[in-house]
Amino acid sequence: MSKIAFPDGFVWGAATSAYQIEGAYNKDGKGESIWDTFVRESGRVKNGETGDVACDHYHLYKEDVKLMKEIGLKGYRFSVSWPRIFPGEKINSKGVEFYDNLINELLANRIEPMVTLYHWDLPQSLQDIGGWENRKVVDAYVEYARFMFEHFGDRVKKWITFNEPLVTSYIGYGFGLHAPGISDWSKAVQVSHHLNLAHAKAVERFRNLNVKNAEIGITLNLAPVYPASDSIDDQRKATIADGLMNRWFLDPVLKGNYPEDILPILKEKLHSPKIEGGDLDTLRKSSIDFLGVNYYSRAVVKWVPGEELFDTRSMLRLEKKEGVEYTEMGWEVYPEGLYDLLTRLDRDYNHPSIYVTENGAAYKDTEMINGIVQDEDRLSYLKRHFEQARKAIDAGVRLGGYYVWSLMDNFEWAEGYDKRFGLVRIDYETLKRTLKKSAYWYHQVIAENGFETDNR
Ligand code: FCB
Repeated sequence: MSKIAFPDGFVWGAATSAYQIEGAYNKDGKGESIWDTFVRESGRVKNGETGDVACDHYHLYKEDVKLMKEIGLKGYRFSVSWPRIFPGEKINSKGVEFYDNLINELLANRIEPMVTLYHWDLPQSLQDIGGWENRKVVDAYVEYARFMFEHFGDRVKKWITFNEPLVTSYIGYGFGLHAPGISDWSKAVQVSHHLNLAHAKAVERFRNLNVKNAEIGITLNLAPVYPASDSIDDQRKATIADGLMNRWFLDPVLKGNYPEDILPILKEKLHSPKIEGGDLDTLRKSSIDFLGVNYYSRAVVKWVPGEELFDTRSMLRLEKKEGVEYTEMGWEVYPEGLYDLLTRLDRDYNHPSIYVTENGAAYKDTEMINGIVQDEDRLSYLKRHFEQARKAIDAGVRLGGYYVWSLMDNFEWAEGYDKRFGLVRIDYETLKRTLKKSAYWYHQVIAENGFETDNR
């Protein structure tokens, strides 16, 4: 056994998002979001479940901050519900008050807030004018972001413009599995461009406001892509899949342009995106302080003649293999992918500052002793990924922190409450919170800023 130690000041955290935990979907003047609409459409979410109550964090936030304190978290990443702040054109002071209270409670407990401005819950009123297909929504987002920077900028020092633009565009508008549930790949690609614009414009606002001692970034879900074999066809397919899933989102925020091998393909096949004069300049002018990386698994891709460009096999990872370890989501457990991904970002994108803004796993969580979930599988998943993160730091990657997904079990989008990702168990009948075994282990990791391992 040897000890792995992390750099001083490393931010050990946990992450959540508004719609997945808050509940109180129509309380205190909150407006409807596209998820409030989507969950009410039949067949969209497993068992017809909704986030109406979720973990009721809106009412129980103080208890939740206490849990964070108990685990010893240094940082907490959460998202703000845009329609709670702007149900329409006017600000909802009750919504603002909720986040004021939450942030003040975190700071009083020495837990650093990291705020995501958009984690998928667009105000329904903006969807009604066309959602992210409409450039007016870009302007509305920038106005919302400006308000947030001005109001909370004295206390919030880590800002994230968007969580996973790939999911909003490809899953929401391409595969149609998330709100708003549209299946049109031209639109999906157009939406991805508008999200990039909204990101760049919000960053510009942030710079102009000169929010003190604070940093801003974006969170991307990235999966290293490996060809299934050495064949030229598989390798070519891997390059395209990497282009569509990773570089399409990385390049505009880190290089200010779209990948040269992918843009012509999308233009030819989908006549999308339409890029207006000045857009690329806007992208080029903005630069982030850090990149947020959500890592869950890798993609292994095989060339199949005649297959769609956006194929479900590689993008939704539907193929399963014998002898490979999977989580309850059906995602392969592949910790080495985190090392490959981080070192590649470092190499190809000019040594950016990075936070892992999500990593974690869903498991069955059935074994209990004295009411405590014995989630050895989750503990082992996290441990193996932390090891790879440390290895990446050794290789020179500027990794400043790690936010485990998730602080607590919550509403897992189209999967409803079936998939549990939490360090903390939620009993959805009583809303009782209980630390799992992984949370006790994480507590120790944080206290020692490292852990014992055989794998080094
Ligand atoms: C990510 C999302 C997060 C959660 C995890 C499991 O794609 O950002 O909200 O659903 O997956």
